[in-house]
Amino acid sequence: MSKTYQIGVIPGDGTGPEVIAEGLKVLNAVSEKTGTKYNFIHYDFGGERYLRSGETLPDSAINELRQLDAIYLGAIGHPEVKPGILEKEILLNMRFSLDLYINLRPVKLYPGVDTPLKDKGPEHIDFVVVRENTEGLYTGSGGFLKKGTSDEIAIQESINTRKGVERCLRFAFEYCRKRNKDKKLTLCGKTNVLTYAFDLWERAFHQVGQEYPGIEKDYAHVDAVCMWMVKNPEWFDVIVTDNIFGDIITDIGAIIQGGMGIAAGGNINPEGTAMFEPIGGSAPKYTGKNVINPLAAIMAGHMMLNNLGEAEAADLIERAVMAIVKDNMKSMDAGRMGTGTSEVGDLVTKYVLDEKK
Ligand code: IPM
Ligand code: MN
Repeated sequence: MSKTYQIGVIPGDGTGPEVIAEGLKVLNAVSEKTGTKYNFIHYDFGGERYLRSGETLPDSAINELRQLDAIYLGAIGHPEVKPGILEKEILLNMRFSLDLYINLRPVKLYPGVDTPLKDKGPEHIDFVVVRENTEGLYTGSGGFLKKGTSDEIAIQESINTRKGVERCLRFAFEYCRKRNKDKKLTLCGKTNVLTYAFDLWERAFHQVGQEYPGIEKDYAHVDAVCMWMVKNPEWFDVIVTDNIFGDIITDIGAIIQGGMGIAAGGNINPEGTAMFEPIGGSAPKYTGKNVINPLAAIMAGHMMLNNLGEAEAADLIERAVMAIVKDNMKSMDAGRMGTGTSEVGDLVTKYVLDEKK
């Protein structure tokens, strides 16, 4: 008998529940078609629960989530909650507590999807960013001195541990090898200014890289990476970088692959659980209007199945999405898709159920 995967579902805020509903529809169809089995466990963490009870993500929930095979998240962010609270206490808390040390963000333009890049097509835009997800500027290390006075000092430190950097690099090298495309790994840093943090990254990169003689090692400063992602995206195969640079460059990545409507990401502990999400936010102004694009959430489901080792089921989702974006959608943007949220989910579901091979 095949395994039943235990999957925690956190629809979250704003349009999160709408896109997750479509993602679950597709996952259920994939289950019917391929025999992969899931048990979905729903959690109501997010802005509503916080406003009601003051609770964000209790420790007991973290211990429950730790036991699961995967977590499927919609979006976190509520207009009535001060920015920073939900992000820190739910999203970042999950990343840190579950040690989801890889943030994997594929940037792939599918045929039929518009990119703002002139003269670039699917043959040029197909790379993956491996973002370190538990260190760097995100640890909360630092503080204020003399806050609120004219002498105040704010310190925000970037923490880079040898262990944390090495495990991220090793994942990137392994991923690049398995991906088997150009076999090129680009370290994105800032060795000319951040001479401590990226000195460590660069030394570790070349040291770990010795274990991967078949992979070309490339280095670029983060500002140059931003430029080349726009000018020559075909130069990249796999990019590895720290937390904040990864945050920034993957927004460029999302926009060149067609926008937040289709961009998905995975927060992964390769030795434990993982959390998958559409990388756009909760988009509160579109809530309940059936206009948000569910493909990013559906693609998060695709990534989740791949990470669970269900490549065949994952590929089925990707083929379905490719077919739908080619023939049935005008745009990836909310309100301009030419079809509604649930209709997009229905089209993908129908393709999954009807595909003849
Ligand atoms: C992301 C988001 C988060 C981040 C925010 C919401 C804390 O921008 O997942 O990229 O900065 O990591
Ligand atoms: Mn971001």
